[in-house]
Amino acid sequence: MRIRLDKYLADLGIESRSGVKLLIKKGRVQVNGTVWNRPETKVDTEADQICLDGRNLTYYDYEYFMLNKPAGVVSASRDPRSLTVLDLIDSKTRKDLFPVGRLDRNTTGLLLVTNDGALAHCLLAPGRHVEKVYRVQLDGAVESADQTAFREGIDIGDDTPTLPAMLEIPDASRPEEVLVRIHEGRYHQIKRMFAARGRQVVGLKRLSMGPLLLDDTLEEGESRRLTGTELAELKSLEHH
Ligand code: URA
Repeated sequence: MRIRLDKYLADLGIESRSGVKLLIKKGRVQVNGTVWNRPETKVDTEADQICLDGRNLTYYDYEYFMLNKPAGVVSASRDPRSLTVLDLIDSKTRKDLFPVGRLDRNTTGLLLVTNDGALAHCLLAPGRHVEKVYRVQLDGAVESADQTAFREGIDIGDDTPTLPAMLEIPDASRPEEVLVRIHEGRYHQIKRMFAARGRQVVGLKRLSMGPLLLDDTLEEGESRRLTGTELAELKSLEHH
């Protein structure tokens, strides 16, 4: 992509548009090893090497991060009172990042953070039914009647019952710790589904979203960029 040199630097959050113009005029910016002092020059975001004060920069048009969300932070880009998931991503360069969907404040686990609106739309569109898997800790044992109810759809007070969902008990000796697979994303959906069955959720962690699986080497609060393979798998959803 060819963009103006001042936009290149401003997009990276280095300074405001007028601030970066000054940096350029002061000769602090090099393009392919040569000082360029015209902010309006076009640079190629992939082919040209831009340096600020001798430091090489990398331009990201789109960024994609996987975060293992800890409890206590909000799934928003900005919040006047609380730490947000964006505050946890140190290596970001784009200012237009947002979380793809929301996890409740006390929910942990996989959250995709990007500025790719088309991909986000595709993952969240109700008609797409992208699968999400959660590990759920309950205040008591789940029974086979609950599994049937999840499979058939549950009235949680919305206009329509939930879509068929899978409720699995991975370890029969611990029937209060389950996996749930849902294909929609209604407000407080998992908590409301269990509440309708007389159970309370005491711990909730998202393990996957479509083809994207939480990297279990990420501690809560840690994030990393998606790998090429992960991104390709997500992008393939856009073509279906
Ligand atoms: N369902 C919930 O109840 N909360 C979440 O954060 C995600 C799914």
